[in-house]
Amino acid sequence: MSAENRTDRRPPRHIAIIMDGNGRWAKKRGLARTAGHAAGAEAFRRTANYCRTLGVEYLTVYAFSTENWKRSEEEVSGIMTLLARYLREALRDMEKNHVRFRFFGDLSRLSPELRRLCLEAQSRSDEYHEVQVNFCLNYGGRDEIVRAVKAFAQDVREGKADPDDMTEELLSSYLDSANVPDPELVIRPSGELRTSNFLPWQTVYSEFVFMNVLWPDFSPEDLDAAIEEYHRRNRRFGGA
Ligand code: FPP
Repeated sequence: MSAENRTDRRPPRHIAIIMDGNGRWAKKRGLARTAGHAAGAEAFRRTANYCRTLGVEYLTVYAFSTENWKRSEEEVSGIMTLLARYLREALRDMEKNHVRFRFFGDLSRLSPELRRLCLEAQSRSDEYHEVQVNFCLNYGGRDEIVRAVKAFAQDVREGKADPDDMTEELLSSYLDSANVPDPELVIRPSGELRTSNFLPWQTVYSEFVFMNVLWPDFSPEDLDAAIEEYHRRNRRFGGA
């Protein structure tokens, strides 16, 4: 471990989380899957508050993937209802909490009301700079890259961009995550060892911490443990 890594104990600036294990948590208790997602929404609230206490600047959570539409209508609408409830609450408390919201994903497939809440949360919180929550909603990493390439192609067609100018930085600016620093730490609870189409472009140098706890049980102590593990890693970015 380098001297720099040993002495720098600040939490990562940006933590990204795959909120996994809600269904198994509910099944273990004989409850409906939606009850697991409700407990997952509580775990999100807890974790977001703790991140803020620690001084984490960006928290990105995988709330609904482009693949999650395959689930039952009841489960999908349960998750959407929880998200809408959370956003209404966030809008009500906006002036008190000063959380900045961004949404990654293709919002066009959401209900008009949920889309409206997302856009209102995004625009009304745009002036806040302390802490930013990025919700990945109808998000898929490959879909994000396809949408970015299409947007760039459209700019080329309109004479606003030149293919010869394409660079990693320029492509990044077309992604949903434009202007957001890459996450240093990605956490996946629930014991699954995959990244499941979550931020493939942004996480090439991220540290991944996989944990056995189910998301609804995820506690501040689990976040401390993940950050501790992150600090133990030796981040070399391809250098020697
Ligand atoms: C994955 O667990 C979780 C989801 C697909 C939904 C995540 C949504 C929430 C936590 C609620 C959203 C609301 C707010 C306010 C954040 P899973 O259902 O795949 O779990 P399993 O693998 O055990 O079945």
